[in-house]
Amino acid sequence: MASPSDTSDADFSSLNPAAADAAINNADGKKYWEGINADVDGMLGGFAHITKVDLQGSRNFLAKFGIGTRSGLRVVSSALEGGAGIGRVTEGLLLDVAENVDVVEPIAKFTAALQGKKGVRQIFNLGLEEWQPAEGAQYDLIWNQWCVGHLTDDQLVAYLGRCKSVLNPGGVIVIKENNSTTGDDIFDPEDSSVTRGDDKFRALFKQAGLRLVKAEIQRGLQTPGGVKLFTVRMYALKPVDGYNHNNSGISMP
Ligand SMILES: C[S@@+](CC[C@H](N)C(=O)[O-])C[C@H]1O[C@@H](n2cnc3c(N)ncnc32)[C@H](O)[C@@H]1O
Repeated sequence: MASPSDTSDADFSSLNPAAADAAINNADGKKYWEGINADVDGMLGGFAHITKVDLQGSRNFLAKFGIGTRSGLRVVSSALEGGAGIGRVTEGLLLDVAENVDVVEPIAKFTAALQGKKGVRQIFNLGLEEWQPAEGAQYDLIWNQWCVGHLTDDQLVAYLGRCKSVLNPGGVIVIKENNSTTGDDIFDPEDSSVTRGDDKFRALFKQAGLRLVKAEIQRGLQTPGGVKLFTVRMYALKPVDGYNHNNSGISMP
């Protein structure tokens, strides 16, 4: 599943893990989400209670890049949220730390309530695989959470390349996603998505010309009855070349 998910949901029968993404059908993924309620529980696969801890973890992660509202941190000018759903992250975090937020989300009913909201600038009702940045758009922060599993490996690399092309100097791209428990990619036919392994993510970032500057596991995602969720990792990425490059070779912000 692209959402936070019980590891027992994983379909390990799913074929050749090396080619798990080949089974993704973007239209099937969108069809699945059309049938999901436009609320936090819908976005989080029934685990709405984890949203507070999740958002706090994200806020702490961004603070490590100097982004935030606390003293000593800065509010950036422009952010993009990819696969934003109802705007749980946009409303719960990005609108606090960015003056303007653009949103990409294929399911129009999810973004309906974001229309006209202060700080929400442009809404693209498109899949990330279809999205092209608007002419002249530049972002300081691009956030993608629990959605890139809907893209094939090639689509993800191409999308990240587009993100890279519109990242301001000093900007950062964040991917926050489930990691598979086995290390192999797992295809889930229910929502036509893959859960990728940590190594696969890192290889795809490299392929997109991005440098991993920080990776952190989201802690504290407790579930009632101790149901075990997939590990959720936050990855912060900057272009290998260009303004963001630090010559020290140290993988730090
Ligand atoms: C688990 S929800 C996460 C929503 C939001 N990122 C959050 O964390 O609350 C997955 C989202 O991915 C969206 N999605 C499905 N296919 C997509 C695609 N091809 N490109 C972008 N988003 C997609 C769904 O419509 C849904 O809003």
